[in-house]
Amino acid sequence: MKNIKKFENKIITGDVIKTIEKLPKESVHLVITSPPYNVGKDYDNHNDKMEYNEYLKWLEEVWIQVKRVLVPGGRFCLNIAPTGIKNFVPIHHDFTNQLRKLGMKFRTEIIWYKQTMLKRTAWGSWQSPSNPHIIPSWEYILIFTKNGDSLEGNKQDIDISAEEFKKFSDGFWKIKPERKRNGHPAPFPEELIYQLIKYYSYKGNVVLDIFGGTGTVAVVSQKTGRKFIHIDISKEYNNTTKERLRIAQEELSQKPMS
Ligand SMILES: C[S@@+](CC[C@H](N)C(=O)[O-])C[C@H]1O[C@@H](n2cnc3c(N)ncnc32)[C@H](O)[C@@H]1O
Repeated sequence: MKNIKKFENKIITGDVIKTIEKLPKESVHLVITSPPYNVGKDYDNHNDKMEYNEYLKWLEEVWIQVKRVLVPGGRFCLNIAPTGIKNFVPIHHDFTNQLRKLGMKFRTEIIWYKQTMLKRTAWGSWQSPSNPHIIPSWEYILIFTKNGDSLEGNKQDIDISAEEFKKFSDGFWKIKPERKRNGHPAPFPEELIYQLIKYYSYKGNVVLDIFGGTGTVAVVSQKTGRKFIHIDISKEYNNTTKERLRIAQEELSQKPMS
């Protein structure tokens, strides 16, 4: 896996497909990502309101590359939520079908319960069965594997505690959305990424985020002794990632040795 070395612990500014194409095949253990949801969010450098079929076609090209770069047994954790009120779009089903057609195995789905809908109960008809509508207060983390379920690794690189393993094995994860936005419309909370990384990878593994945003996957990978590869099209978000990594590194070096 020599050729992957030059990409490790790098922040790469560029288009997802053009960049991921440069990564060697079978070189990444874990991909964690959340694509733009195509709901018109105000990203720095991306049109988030594409025609739906065009959007799906674009992402299918991305999934093909994700599969190519994963090692056998490698995992793909894909965060997505159904969108829209009037025109409810089950994107998570469309992505699942796409990935299964490409030969990725659908292992499970994690419910990321964000509990954000408590004050918003009146979508559709209020107190009437004529047309009530449930807006999910959760998102999904869809988990896929490539070529078999087992990921090879050394016993001494397992760093999940029994407590954590038990807790994360219940696929209903109550984690509040990230409040600190760092100038980005949709950042991951660190806890969500921590749980995915600890559960699905060994220390020293390569973790890739192809729509890295402000770098939550990179930061948590660094904090947990994994190598990250961070791709995003926005220079501004990547500058924020660089700064977050610097602060995380500083905090790590100030921690007293235990
Ligand atoms: C949902 S956000 C990811 C946020 C990230 N999980 C975080 O914690 O900050 C999607 C990201 O995809 C990026 N993006 C959109 N189009 C892209 C493209 N063609 N190539 C690379 N990145 C792209 C956007 O700049 C945005 O930061």
